[in-house]
Amino acid sequence: MVIDAVDNFILESIKEKTISGDELSKRLNISRTAVWKRIKKLESLGYQIEKSSKGYRLKKRTDFLLYNEIQPYLNTERIGKNYLFFTEIDSTNLYAKRNELSDGTVIVAEYQTTGKGRRGRRWISNQKKGLYFTIVLKENIPVNEITVFSLIFPLSVKRAVEKLLKIDGLKIKWPNDIYINGKKCAGFLIETELEGNEVGRLIAGIGINVNQTEEELKTIDIPATSLYVETGCVVDRKSLLASILNEIENSINAFDKKSVLNEVEQSLLWKGENVIVIDENIEGLLVGLTDTGGIKILTDNGILETFVGDLTLRRVS
Ligand code: BTN
Repeated sequence: MVIDAVDNFILESIKEKTISGDELSKRLNISRTAVWKRIKKLESLGYQIEKSSKGYRLKKRTDFLLYNEIQPYLNTERIGKNYLFFTEIDSTNLYAKRNELSDGTVIVAEYQTTGKGRRGRRWISNQKKGLYFTIVLKENIPVNEITVFSLIFPLSVKRAVEKLLKIDGLKIKWPNDIYINGKKCAGFLIETELEGNEVGRLIAGIGINVNQTEEELKTIDIPATSLYVETGCVVDRKSLLASILNEIENSINAFDKKSVLNEVEQSLLWKGENVIVIDENIEGLLVGLTDTGGIKILTDNGILETFVGDLTLRRVS
């Protein structure tokens, strides 16, 4: 269900004063029953509307991440021009893979029944507490640039969060998680569809723990945190989502391999510490990034480079 021009007109009209159903029906040139149906629709989308003998008045906007609510903060030309919102879905990435969608489409869900994480893990999506969305890009990216290109997503989320919430210390855990104070706050599932030697379609799934409490994060099987836990403030998910989309579009437009690598390197989690690359049988000191976005590990057998795997900290007892 989407908000159209008539719904918007009603919302604007009842924003600051009470307006009767009669008046709305005249202004819109629709029947009073049609006005009433529109009011019901807006209520089902989470808008709180006070009804009195004098008419209707908007009491509270919806918490749902409808396009309508994001649009005032959005200044993109490409990302989010096609915006699909679901109160519930299996997974926004799965939806993107199942459907033919235009470039720049953003799919947002309040809740995912089977949110997908990397390496077959699942992503827990608490109702209205986090940001769960997928961006579809139809961009011909050379296969050897895809790892660096994918770093645009965590980098943009980091920038948007730091600017909006005036916090710092967000770290990027290779390949593309965001950690704060040693705990995971955001995860990225980047899936690609190849066309010859290039990526034809890139599906970037982004999950961010925003307003979850410590209690709600306990169901996650790794140390996890949320922006609320870290700042002590409830975060406005609407402006955060729009800022992230703005930041992603800017980063894509200005994409430069070297500067992306430099920026990620500066906030690379566990740089200079002993790590293990899970499943790859590599242990050693995390030296930094390679110029194609992999990592360099100083092992007993010299420096090894890898482009696959997941990192964990090696605890020396
Ligand atoms: C990870 O850290 O393992 C990646 C998590 C990615 C989660 C997001 S939530 C939106 C999108 N839809 C999914 O099913 N997964 C991604």
